[in-house]
Amino acid sequence: MTYVIDDPDDRASNPSSAPTFAEVLSSRLSRRALVGGGLGGGLIGFLAPAAQAAPPAAPGSPVKGGSSTSLLGFAGVPVSKDDTFVVPEGYVAEVLIPWGTPILSTGPAWRKDASNTAAEQAEQVGMHHDGMHFFSTGKGPAGSARGLLVLNHEYVDPIMLYPEGPTAMTAEKVTKALHAHGVTVIAIEQAADGSWSQVDSEFNRRVHGNTPVDFSGPVGEDHPALAANGPARGTLNNCSMGHTPWGTYLACEENWNGYFGTTSATWTATAEQKRYGVDKVGFGYNWHLADPRFDIAANPKEIHRFGWCVEIDPQAPNSTPVKRTSLGRFKHEGALVTESKGRVVVYSGDDQDKEYIYKFVGERPWRHERAQGNSPFDNGCLYVAKFHDDGTGEWLPLVHGEGALTVANGWADQADVLLRTRSAADAQGATPMDRPEWITENPRTGDVYCTLTNGSGQHNAANPRTPNPYGHIIRWQERRNDKTGTAFDWDLFVLAGDPAYDSRVTIKGDKYGSPDGLYFDADGRLWIQTDISNSSQNLASKGYDGIGNNMMLAADPRTGETRRFLTGPRGCEITGVVTTPDQRTMFVNVQHPGESTTAWGTPTPANPRAVSNWPEFDPDGRPRPSTVVIRRLDGGVIGA
Ligand code: FEO
Ligand code: CA
Ligand code: CA
Ligand code: CA
Repeated sequence: MTYVIDDPDDRASNPSSAPTFAEVLSSRLSRRALVGGGLGGGLIGFLAPAAQAAPPAAPGSPVKGGSSTSLLGFAGVPVSKDDTFVVPEGYVAEVLIPWGTPILSTGPAWRKDASNTAAEQAEQVGMHHDGMHFFSTGKGPAGSARGLLVLNHEYVDPIMLYPEGPTAMTAEKVTKALHAHGVTVIAIEQAADGSWSQVDSEFNRRVHGNTPVDFSGPVGEDHPALAANGPARGTLNNCSMGHTPWGTYLACEENWNGYFGTTSATWTATAEQKRYGVDKVGFGYNWHLADPRFDIAANPKEIHRFGWCVEIDPQAPNSTPVKRTSLGRFKHEGALVTESKGRVVVYSGDDQDKEYIYKFVGERPWRHERAQGNSPFDNGCLYVAKFHDDGTGEWLPLVHGEGALTVANGWADQADVLLRTRSAADAQGATPMDRPEWITENPRTGDVYCTLTNGSGQHNAANPRTPNPYGHIIRWQERRNDKTGTAFDWDLFVLAGDPAYDSRVTIKGDKYGSPDGLYFDADGRLWIQTDISNSSQNLASKGYDGIGNNMMLAADPRTGETRRFLTGPRGCEITGVVTTPDQRTMFVNVQHPGESTTAWGTPTPANPRAVSNWPEFDPDGRPRPSTVVIRRLDGGVIGA
């Protein structure tokens, strides 16, 4: 069976020979060892607080006034190999909106044998919950008790999605899969007893693989590269996300190449397609066998409609999602949207081995753009990161006519640069990284952190281990904290892993590997979520037997102190994290519980429960990706 390749992100499709973030990091680390202080001392606390902007006041913050009180106030949980979801003592975790839940009370009921039709799936919560944001819809304290939860559905597991599994792909099955992808917008409310539930609202909505979409920026909807068969529809493989100061949501498209394939004997990949990992079989979904839309030979321009960040206004349920092409086309993990000098700044990682970290800077203040009726994402400059081994870095512009991106070198215009963002970044000399995942900003310092989940090993100082099965977290500070600029200083926050197998691990506290989700709460607590691959989880042969199931931890960025906050059920990934404004409720997603793992086995249509049966443990049911709502029994701030 080839329908799902384990971690295709681990296979590089970048032939570049530029020094990788690992080459840069090794050389930097050796230099550090020479100048003294050692690895650990060099990794933590390199940023001078004096240079940093004053932090905003945060609710429930124990660090107001610069106190050195630890940000971590909970009792850590042990590693787990059990099929359970575990939170610290004094906390409660409740399941909300599992896959298949009707988004309105009048919608089609979930059927535990997976026999819901494609049409029904379009009215139900999608599969494989991922990045997520909570948009308050009330003011003051009410804003923490009512809001719109907006979440991505990254991909589908065909064994779980259909009663008969992935065999014999049909048009109906492709459509059901498309409807299980995308985004859910759902109104939720907290009751007097503290519990949360979904409520019917005009905002409840699904955006999925067949939803009409628009394009803006240099690759506008009339661009010839987008002239595929039929109108532009859908968003796919929505991994992580961003949210804007003006209240919209950015769903990011990650492994979109995997949905395309062909049986054409004569088809061969173009250079551009190769660079994005497009081939004849994709990730084995076989949609192209039943839907010509995904036949890369018959409908080669359809794929240009994917690889973007998609802006969705959750407060405008009839609005058309817009793909913002100025932000580049690659395997966007997520999009951290922040503001500097009034201008919008967007950081985004391209999650594949040996790929890059990007930044978009708006040309004018975003309020000015909005007042003129423009999108703040349409005018600006896209950059890619170069990490020098001396701890400095620079943002290289991906602008047509600059550097190597000239007509003489085959670059037609800015739209061409954006359609082939990866190749443009190659040409400008970007630094290859160990799979860039989530990016988040410390609200107290302005430092930006990025998870590098794992990789084959680069050859640069920013990715110092070769191979790197455990991953690390890098951080940078823009010079003078001006995020519109092009110079920065970087360092490593942590090298993750199990010290029993790797003495270079620098975690101060509970161990973990393959960091992926990353989120700063308003107090400056750093939440770290893991996505250890199914082929490594719980296995001694991979150095992961001591780490257990995927988890979430909290770290105090001032000290590096790290504590395990929760562990997930078997076969899952923990991803997606956000708190209410008062920080007294946290939402976390459990993605792909019960997926095939080397340690626990492979589920089948006859026994979808072979690995996990979380969260319902119904003897006739199946595991269901879900949002988990976490609260403190005493109503306190999460993590404090
Ligand atoms: Fe969708 Fe890179 O995780
Ligand atoms: Ca991820
Ligand atoms: Ca991941
Ligand atoms: Ca995963």
